[in-house]
Amino acid sequence: MSNSNIRLDPRLSAVASLVKRGNRLIDIGTDHAYVPCFLVSSGVCPSAIAADLRKGPLQNARQTIAACALEHSIETCLSDGLDAIAPQKNCTVVLAGMGGLLITELLQRTPWVFESSVQLVAQPMSHAEDVRRFFFENGFAPERERCAADGKHVYCAMAAHFTGEKASVSPAMPYGGLLFQSEDGTAQRYLHLQFERLKKRRDALAAAGTDANEVARLNAVLADFEAMRA
Ligand SMILES: C[S@@+](CC[C@H](N)C(=O)[O-])C[C@H]1O[C@@H](n2cnc3c(N)ncnc32)[C@H](O)[C@@H]1O
Repeated sequence: MSNSNIRLDPRLSAVASLVKRGNRLIDIGTDHAYVPCFLVSSGVCPSAIAADLRKGPLQNARQTIAACALEHSIETCLSDGLDAIAPQKNCTVVLAGMGGLLITELLQRTPWVFESSVQLVAQPMSHAEDVRRFFFENGFAPERERCAADGKHVYCAMAAHFTGEKASVSPAMPYGGLLFQSEDGTAQRYLHLQFERLKKRRDALAAAGTDANEVARLNAVLADFEAMRA
């Protein structure tokens, strides 16, 4: 595999497109290391750390890195989240292909990411609202969000950096974030799917009659969601 042979699928392309040019890349949960190999070989990032919790995925990463002859600029690291990564500046931390709650837990316990020169790029496979909420509540300013469709799936990737200014946002914001301002067709599809998912959950809970507080919360989210899209 030569450098130019790394082809990213739409989901990982969305992730890569958000990474700040010139930053060192730290890819957490890298598995095959496609994102670091793509971004280093294309000159967007000068160097990278490809990290994973497990030895098997890290072996996949080493194989891709070797196939691209990028051993001199991409190092691998066995790490639970960012625990084994030394504090960095002027870097982008990518957390893609993991659940939203796990992503927030990994960030929460890493003090050095609460720094303005550290860009975060998250691509949660579920519970994206947890990641947006984490950003708003912990002083991270959202930079951009990109959606990508692959078959029947629509994925969202989001970039943010620390400013220290905590934001109190309206009920629907964690569910759509910057996408409420987007006219992109895939973003609109993502918002539609989010809305339908919330409505389904509200209807199921209302029918069960077990959690009136959550039904009321979801009603507020849905009303705000409609207002944001109007
Ligand atoms: C579904 S793969 C995603 C691979 C790639 N980032 C992508 O988006 O295509 C998830 C990877 O995250 C790794 N992972 C899960 N929990 C982790 C943790 N706490 N710290 C680091 N890596 C983790 C898994 O071992 C696996 O390789």
